[in-house]
Amino acid sequence: MIPPSLLILLGVVGGYSAWASPVTQEVKASSTVKTSHSYSSFSYTQVTSTRYATALGAPLSFPTAFAPAFSQASTLLPSNVTYTTYALQSSLTADGQYGQSAYAALWANLSYTAAPPFTTTATASAVPSSELVYPPDLYNRVDNPELKLPADFIWGVAASAWQIEGGLQLEGRGPSVLDSIGAIQSNDNQSDANIADMSYFMYKEDIARLAAIGVPYLSFSISWPRIVPFGEAGSPINTLGLQHYDDVINACLEYGVTPIVTLNHVDMPASQISDMSTLPENFLYFAKQVMTRYADRVPYWVTFNEPNIGVDVTFPGWNSLTHILTAHAAVYHWYKDELHGTGQVTMKFANNLAVPLDPSNSSHVEAALRYQNFILGVMGNPLFLGEQYPADALDTPNLNLTALTEDQISNFHGTMDFWAFDPYVAQFASAAPEGISACAADQSNSLWPECVTTSMIQADGWLMGDMSNAYSSIAPQYVRQQLGYVWNTFRPSGILISEYGFNPFADSERTGDAQRQDLERTLYYQDFLQETLKAIHEDGVNVIGALAWSYLDNNEFGSYTNQYGMQSVNRTDGSLRRRYKRSLFDYVGFFHEHVGS
Ligand SMILES: *[C@@H]1O[C@H](CO)[C@@H](O)[C@H](O)[C@H]1NC(C)=O
Ligand SMILES: *[C@@H]1O[C@H](CO)[C@@H](O)[C@H](O)[C@H]1NC(C)=O
Ligand SMILES: *[C@@H]1O[C@H](CO)[C@@H](O)[C@H](O)[C@H]1NC(C)=O
Ligand SMILES: *[C@@H]1O[C@H](CO)[C@@H](O)[C@H](O)[C@H]1NC(C)=O
Ligand SMILES: *[C@@H]1O[C@H](CO)[C@@H](O)[C@H](O)[C@H]1NC(C)=O
Ligand SMILES: *[C@@H]1O[C@H](CO)[C@@H](O)[C@H](O)[C@H]1NC(C)=O
Repeated sequence: MIPPSLLILLGVVGGYSAWASPVTQEVKASSTVKTSHSYSSFSYTQVTSTRYATALGAPLSFPTAFAPAFSQASTLLPSNVTYTTYALQSSLTADGQYGQSAYAALWANLSYTAAPPFTTTATASAVPSSELVYPPDLYNRVDNPELKLPADFIWGVAASAWQIEGGLQLEGRGPSVLDSIGAIQSNDNQSDANIADMSYFMYKEDIARLAAIGVPYLSFSISWPRIVPFGEAGSPINTLGLQHYDDVINACLEYGVTPIVTLNHVDMPASQISDMSTLPENFLYFAKQVMTRYADRVPYWVTFNEPNIGVDVTFPGWNSLTHILTAHAAVYHWYKDELHGTGQVTMKFANNLAVPLDPSNSSHVEAALRYQNFILGVMGNPLFLGEQYPADALDTPNLNLTALTEDQISNFHGTMDFWAFDPYVAQFASAAPEGISACAADQSNSLWPECVTTSMIQADGWLMGDMSNAYSSIAPQYVRQQLGYVWNTFRPSGILISEYGFNPFADSERTGDAQRQDLERTLYYQDFLQETLKAIHEDGVNVIGALAWSYLDNNEFGSYTNQYGMQSVNRTDGSLRRRYKRSLFDYVGFFHEHVGS
């Protein structure tokens, strides 16, 4: 483009000029050489052909159970447990440590404006074929159909209990650390989780819809306070909670979906955080109750979701990490050695890889490694390498992280059957402006304790990629490094991408039809997966699976507008009706093309 002032100087304003004509001729000359144009009679071309999704084969049964049936495993449970179901009636008189009134008191400071619209389990309706029509084909995509994934590749979708269930105070559930989000007395104006997607009662429909479109793996979490309302070892177990998740797992198998079960996805019982040293005992007490009952039908277990970013967010103090590791290892050892489970057990880590802003600047490299040590080293060192917490963390004044003993390290080492993490996106790292050591010595610094500046803007000023509504980004250029960092640093036997996803900008303000045609989300997944194929085939990384976050729009910890779902849930008209988005069809399509048989 030539600015108008320049055109005036050149004397070309107001019509053709001698200056312009050679350019025009050059364009004509080159086009005559390359193409020949011709006329013919016009006719319309049919470019749509109606293609339907293929449902999973059902029911699913495993050749051998992954653990003894409950009739045998029940001998591993304490014999003096009380099984009951509480009701929330605050007018009850005092009736003991774990009585109805004690249960009501757990909820004393929490109530919700929104009441669940129904309170019984809904049957699944058959998905009409009109909902199973593929969207218009993706055009002009680069694909590498020859790059295959193994037949046992764990591909599917994920969600978590608190984010989808609703019915927080129903059927004997106790409060979790998340329940103040959206509760009235907490003076918190964020979205009310008491309805969410109503999946506590709509799980059959949710599972049926995944099966109808052909998604073979579902990663979900059990709400710990639905099983142990008081959270404490020795306290009563909620019968309705046990029955609920038993039926969720059976519904998965009935529809052909393989369950991947997380024991705790952020929503610890509210009482737990007052003393984190009791976590191992309380967590094992809970885990035994569910694993003795369900482990025969569950091939994959996750103990904790993203505890590595929970310090001072959902539980207090860095030594909580040691309690988490102890609790994880206790469940791992009990599952393998006492229950004799033959499934696989892991833990999921959060990690948006820190890439040095300028890889040739040693202070940026140091900052990136320090960030990674605080996020992944604190878990990966003891679990995968049998090593101490990273020196970066131990040496930070006032962090108060106590070094692990040799006994602790050997107890933790080897208790992960594979690596699982949630690499949504990468980010750029450089040292805190005052330098890492000055910042590390100053607990009041807002960047303390990592003391790393992170950014999505690369050194030359460009954003890394198309930005989402919150923090994710379409930046496939870093996927191989995200996987390569973990593979080469912690050397696991395999890597599960246990969450990844994208929430398009201002998505919730679009019409329902526009939300459904979510091409950006498709680009995110297709590009991410293409790079994952290269990591496997060119870099030698053993990626064993990929689970998309999320299979439906949900409560992103107080937001219904950060929509990560590959299905919408209509909260506007109150129907809670689920609708597939194009990204879910494209996602299934990718795996149908690449997973070998
Ligand atoms: C249940 O038994 C365990 C030992 O198996 C004991 O430590 C605990 O105190 C008992 N609880 C109750 C409520 O009796
Ligand atoms: C409710 O709030 C009161 C006043 O802040 C507090 O004393 C009490 O411990 C709280 N109860 C629960 C169960 O959190
Ligand atoms: C909470 O939301 C309501 C309704 O949108 C608004 O009137 C009120 O001011 C908000 N309260 C706070 C503390 O933000
Ligand atoms: C490295 O980065 C730091 C902080 O961003 C900067 O002060 C320093 O000049 C850089 N060093 C080189 C060699 O570019
Ligand atoms: C670590 O302990 C010191 C001394 O008790 C305290 O001042 C500091 O706040 C603690 N740090 C954290 C992160 O809690
Ligand atoms: C919710 O339902 C209303 C009324 O049927 C419709 O106009 C709207 O597009 C729907 N929203 C979504 C996200 O599907």
